[in-house]
Amino acid sequence: DPLVLKNGQRVTDAAAWTRQRRPEILEFFRSEMFGRRPATPAGLKFKVFDEDRGALGGKATRRQITIYFSPDEKGPRMDLLVYVPAGASGPVPAFLGLNFAGNQAIHPDPGIKISESWQRDSKQPGYVKNRATEESRGAMKHRWDVDAILARGYALATAYYGDIDPDFNDGFQNGVHPVFYRTGQTKPAPDEWGSIAAWAWGLSRALDYLERDSAIDTKRVAVMGHSRLGKTALWAGAEDERFAIVISNNSGCGGAKLSRRVFGESVHQINYSFPHWFCGNFAKYNERVSDLPFDQHMLIALVAPRPVYVASAEQDLHADPRGEFLSALHAEPVYRLFNAPGLGTKDLPTVNQPAMGTIGYHVRTGVHDVTPYDWKCYLDFADRHFGRK
Ligand code: GCU
Repeated sequence: DPLVLKNGQRVTDAAAWTRQRRPEILEFFRSEMFGRRPATPAGLKFKVFDEDRGALGGKATRRQITIYFSPDEKGPRMDLLVYVPAGASGPVPAFLGLNFAGNQAIHPDPGIKISESWQRDSKQPGYVKNRATEESRGAMKHRWDVDAILARGYALATAYYGDIDPDFNDGFQNGVHPVFYRTGQTKPAPDEWGSIAAWAWGLSRALDYLERDSAIDTKRVAVMGHSRLGKTALWAGAEDERFAIVISNNSGCGGAKLSRRVFGESVHQINYSFPHWFCGNFAKYNERVSDLPFDQHMLIALVAPRPVYVASAEQDLHADPRGEFLSALHAEPVYRLFNAPGLGTKDLPTVNQPAMGTIGYHVRTGVHDVTPYDWKCYLDFADRHFGRK
């Protein structure tokens, strides 16, 4: 029950949620699952290294920015790619999301800088010895409906998640973690950030940049992510309330999916396969998920009263569509405290029939992926909540 405090008392209004229960739940997720993150560094630096006002055949302005996480320019840094629709009459709302294969993979636009960072082994052409080559341009374009996003008046900002922390278990020696070690510290403490928390922290740093970009309406930025980056988007939205909408695409275990249903990927499996994603304390629950002081509907509730969208795919049983739906549903009592309509259904919707209240949900036909259909739903949801037609 998201509305019962640790001391057994019941939360009955929004003020008590915000003042008492939300901080309690946030602390559970910080100390037991994702790990604590450092504050915004004082030495954050932004360098705009590219601007093309006639990008994508005149449809957009493209900007690329390096965000340095420390005063050392050779240290960890992230390249942010931003497309702003051409002809906007004022600041526009935006979608922000991390990508899996380098910025150049999201679109064949020859102006996008090719990632120089370590890349995972990829079945896509264009990746050789863990590096991206020219041939990787547009390799993941099917996941980013740039045309639809721009045509509907939104900007898109994206960065490669491996710029923040390469996605393999090296005991947190590379990526952003070491920048924040105390003297003598060699790895995060059991309640300090794993990789997902680092990626989520990186999304906040991208938002720090967007706040300086006058083309972007930073009160209307939706954070979106797929799969491990969907888990990341949810945690980013929980940690950073500047994100106005939070979107989880097929996030599954450790994201939207309930852990106690024990369907699809388990807590044990995820900690075994990806020991670096969560903080050290999370492994305590491998054999006893019912001892977790929360379940994933409470992660969704941390977004309240802001709009949140959970999307599943029918064939993505590893991510447990029903468990993702139930999380969205059981976050509703918290939204109700704010008089915000929840999902508007108690039953798992039929495929390709989105439910859209302040909580949105759909299960679409097909497999684990991001499709133009998913984007269409996110754009409709954002239009509705950002007061657009
Ligand atoms: C694996 C993992 C999932 C994760 C997915 C992804 O399948 O088990 O938890 O969401 O990778 O990120 O693609």
